[in-house]
This record gives sequence, C-alpha cells and structure tokens, in this order.
Amino acid sequence: MVERKRVLSGMRPTGQLHLGHLLGALTNWRKLQEQHECFFMVADYHALMSEYEHPQRLREWTYQNVTDWLAAGIDPRRCVIFRQSDIPEHVELFTVLSIITPLGWVERVPTYKEQLRELEGRDLATYGFLGYPILQSADILLYKAHAVPVGEDQLPHLELTREIVRRLHFLIKKEIFPEPQALLTQTPKLLGTDGRKMSKSYANTIALSESADAIRTTTQKMFTDPTRIQMSDPGHPDACNVCNYWKFFAPDKAARTWEECATSKRGCVQNKRELAEVLVQVTEPFRAARASLAQKKDASYDEIEQLLQTGADRARAVAEQTMAEVKEAFGLLTRI
Ligand code: TRP
Repeated sequence: MVERKRVLSGMRPTGQLHLGHLLGALTNWRKLQEQHECFFMVADYHALMSEYEHPQRLREWTYQNVTDWLAAGIDPRRCVIFRQSDIPEHVELFTVLSIITPLGWVERVPTYKEQLRELEGRDLATYGFLGYPILQSADILLYKAHAVPVGEDQLPHLELTREIVRRLHFLIKKEIFPEPQALLTQTPKLLGTDGRKMSKSYANTIALSESADAIRTTTQKMFTDPTRIQMSDPGHPDACNVCNYWKFFAPDKAARTWEECATSKRGCVQNKRELAEVLVQVTEPFRAARASLAQKKDASYDEIEQLLQTGADRARAVAEQTMAEVKEAFGLLTRI
C-alpha cells in the first residue's frame, strides 16, 4: 500500500467564494481527500491581517465558506476541517518560527510588497502582516504536512517554509519536520468575466452562491473574441474568454463549441446563453446549501460550528504533540 501523505491547505475567509476558488482549489481538495490525509483550514488569523479594521463579517464568511466547501464535496468524514484560531498552537509555533527567521527572509518575499500595493485602502504596514508567511509556515509544520496544494502565487511561501525548516533543524540539531512540497494546482488561470485578472476588487467574479439570474446577466456581458465582429467571421476560441470558460466548466462539450465557434456555426450570443446555463448548473449545489441554511433561521450556522469543533479536536491532537516536540527541542517546558 502506498503511504498516505499528509496534506494541509488553507483559505482566508475574506468574502464569498467564487468560480475561481472552485476551479483553483476546491475541485483539487475534493480529489486529494480521497488519497491523502487532508487537513483543510479556515485561515482566519490570516484573514484578520488584512481585515482587522473591519472584521465584522469574518465570522459569517467563515461559516459561508465552509458551507461552500461542503457543497463542493469536501467531506468531514474523509478529512479534517478546522479553524486556525481554534488551535492556539498556530500562534505558539508562529512565535518560535518568528524568533529564528532572519528579517531579510520575510522582507524579500515577493507577495509581501505585492499585497501592500494591491490591497489598497488598508493599512498593511503592520508587524503582523510582515509575518504572514511565517504564520503560514507554522500552519504547515504544525501538522507535519508533506504536501501543500497551492496556486503559483504561494510558491515563495512554501520555499520560505522549507528554508525555515532547515534552519530550525540546524539549530536544534535534529530533524522533526518533513520539508513540505508544493502541490501545484494544474488548472490554468481563470480570468474574470471582464477578461482581466479575476479579483473581487474588480467585481469580475461569479460567486458560487450567486442567483441563477445574476449568473445569466453577468455571462451576457462577458467579452468574447474582439476580432469577431459578425457571426460569419470565424472565431478564435483560444483567445475568447467565454470559450475558455466552456473548457473549464464543461470540458466534455468544449470541443464541439470550440469547433462551432471557429467555423462560424455558433454565434457569441448563443455561446454566452448556453454557457450561462452550464454555470447555473455547476453552481446549483451551492445555492441549494444556502437555501437549506436559510430555512433553519437563527440556528442556521450551528451545524457548521459543530463540525468545526469536531475538526478542531482532531487538529488539536496533532498540533499539541508537535508543539510539545518543538518546545522540548528548544529547552522550554512542555505540558504533555
Ligand atoms: N496564504 C494562503 C492564501 O492566501 C492561505 C493559507 C494560510 C494557506 N495558511 C495556509 C495555504 C497554509 C496553504 C497552507 O491562499
């Protein structure tokens, strides 16, 4: 039997999940849980680092995101779903790692300067935000994860984590952690509905729980191949955002739609109308999950909270053990 690798990944609850999350993370997570021992985490401390000035919706987003994870087929019987802030060891390990990480290592992480620039209107010049990737390293190491499914933008964080592991082992003169590997998500980047980089701040995303009508309206407004003026002009599907959505969300039908587009048998209006129905179908489980929550009125998030507590118990058992080893190695007193 192949040994089951341990996998950890996290998502920041900073808003509604959208099609990009489905393609870039959730579909992959669902597959990974079948073969590996997976820990999927709501990275609420990481979210707080950019939302601390307006944290009112953090809790709601946590519940809504987890609701979407479940609707995407992430199964709490097969993996551990938990919330970072339920496990104080994340912060403890973060402290130890912060102590041993040279300042230059975090200052040169490319996402740091990028995020400072991109997340405009927020004061991110904080001590904590500089430590963002160190907290992420703590997340990964606490569970001794072998593999971390991430998008390309997160590779520098994985590289930093490996450097920290090597330094830590050098300092304590023994090896307690595997060097975690990045599991690069295969999917190419999904662009926003306006053809620009997909981003909540550009308002070019389609939320997973969006209403069917909203999806139809947004899809109708999508840009197609700009060189195709009339229907009789042959289209260039690979340069058309709508055709690319077809490939991502209905791969079995995309060959035919692409062919029809390239040979002028399919117009852009029809292509968008039919794509809208594909997207409505893909997002159906997410609307259904919201609808069933809404029926439960004020007690609506109890089940999700319960599930997170169960997950926290399982995560805690691992995290406490690892933290005890780290404290022991650094000459600190341990509780267990
Ligand atoms: N930084 C990740 C992101 O923005 C979220 C995250 C936090 C994470 N902790 C993690 C991802 C640990 C993988 C492993 O996408």
